[in-house]
Amino acid sequence: MTGDNCVVFLVVLTFLWTAARGDVQCIFMESCILPCSFDPGPEIVIHWVQGNKPVHSYYHNANKLSHQDKRYTGRTSLFESQILNGNVSLLLKKVEIQDRGQYKCYTSTIKGNKEQYVSVNVKAPVSEVNVEQTGDSITCSSNGIYPQPELKWSTILPSNLTIMNHTVHQTEQQVYTIRSSLLISDHSEGLEYICNVTTGESYWKATVRQQAPVTSEDSEASISCITAKTLRSLVWKFNYNQIILKKTTSPANIQYWNNWKQKVKEESESNNLILKDLSSDQQGMYTCELTTANGTYIINTFLNVPGSNQGKPTVLIAVIVIVIVIALAVAGIVAGIIHSKRKKNTSSEEPGYDLVQAKGSD
Ligand SMILES: *[C@@H]1O[C@H](CO)[C@@H](O)[C@H](O)[C@H]1NC(C)=O
Ligand SMILES: *[C@@H]1O[C@H](CO)[C@@H](O)[C@H](O)[C@H]1NC(C)=O
Ligand SMILES: *[C@@H]1O[C@H](CO)[C@@H](O)[C@H](O)[C@H]1NC(C)=O
Ligand SMILES: *[C@@H]1O[C@H](CO)[C@@H](O)[C@H](O)[C@H]1NC(C)=O
Ligand SMILES: *[C@@H]1O[C@H](CO)[C@@H](O)[C@H](O)[C@H]1NC(C)=O
Repeated sequence: MTGDNCVVFLVVLTFLWTAARGDVQCIFMESCILPCSFDPGPEIVIHWVQGNKPVHSYYHNANKLSHQDKRYTGRTSLFESQILNGNVSLLLKKVEIQDRGQYKCYTSTIKGNKEQYVSVNVKAPVSEVNVEQTGDSITCSSNGIYPQPELKWSTILPSNLTIMNHTVHQTEQQVYTIRSSLLISDHSEGLEYICNVTTGESYWKATVRQQAPVTSEDSEASISCITAKTLRSLVWKFNYNQIILKKTTSPANIQYWNNWKQKVKEESESNNLILKDLSSDQQGMYTCELTTANGTYIINTFLNVPGSNQGKPTVLIAVIVIVIVIALAVAGIVAGIIHSKRKKNTSSEEPGYDLVQAKGSD
């Protein structure tokens, strides 16, 4: 081995050594392995410690957890079958944000002892954004995020964005919840609003788009959504709050709500909704809420059902009102006539009474 090679070898060795004790990136609520190894021998003693908190101990060939800090109860274990191979890595389950910090792995045998350190970092990436929609606002929210997320609204066309109720708060578990509402002043078709929630490298984008209205033909209509390679779930809604159907890919399943099954001719591969037997009751806003591995898409389409009796109830009400008005007017006139007649006969007795009397005396 030449001198140069020797230096390279030492550098690589040092790198491997530091990497072995290096940082561990854990994910909130998932399991994480804190690596540690030693040179096995008789009379093994293992202590995993965080700060001054006992995390996990092992000696006399058994786990000893009586002094374990209660924050770690039921969440730690060693790979016992691997201990004699020199692997004393710690398996930490249901990782919490508070688990961040430096951990000491102490090992000893009759051959000697060793202390190694593992630095644990915990993050909770943005895994999904919930979108709630009403006629004039969109609310975007997400929870269980760490470190503190950011939420940004944007739009593809120039438009004034009015943001309301923007809140961020940290739960007892130290993860963040973020929520923000956008007031929609512009309902132009083709307009797209995007809500982007980010923390560190991870982000989740929710897109709300207004599509051109669709008009039914022969009581049928096809309403398009978007095609997605990585579809997780799809929900079709009517007038923002009535669920039509829910579709999931794993397991593959479609579930219909109320009587919508009779109105849906097909729920196509490309996520289009094909409707049949349409009547005025089905005229309104159709929303496709689609979740992929990348984000959420909310596509709104207004469906016109022409020849529908949409106008008729108003006409009917108007007719009824006119009839009532005429009836009242007629009644008023009649009453007025009677009243004026009565006025003329104020001194005499009731005409009806007279009549009864007359009849009775017959
Ligand atoms: C110890 O064993 C576990 C389980 O087989 C493995 O995942 C881990 O990588 C091993 N660690 C070391 C330092 O060998
Ligand atoms: C945004 O608001 C400003 C001031 O209120 C107004 O001048 C501008 O025209 C608006 N822009 C759009 C695209 O609505
Ligand atoms: C904002 O908050 C207020 C009070 O909490 C509430 O009345 C209002 O509906 C909220 N606005 C939106 C757009 O969510
Ligand atoms: C969301 O925000 C992140 C960070 O600011 C950025 O990297 C990403 O491109 C944004 N995505 C969209 C769709 O705007
Ligand atoms: C999701 O992301 C992948 C790659 O990151 C991309 O190929 C795909 O087109 C994206 N899908 C959507 C619907 O944006």
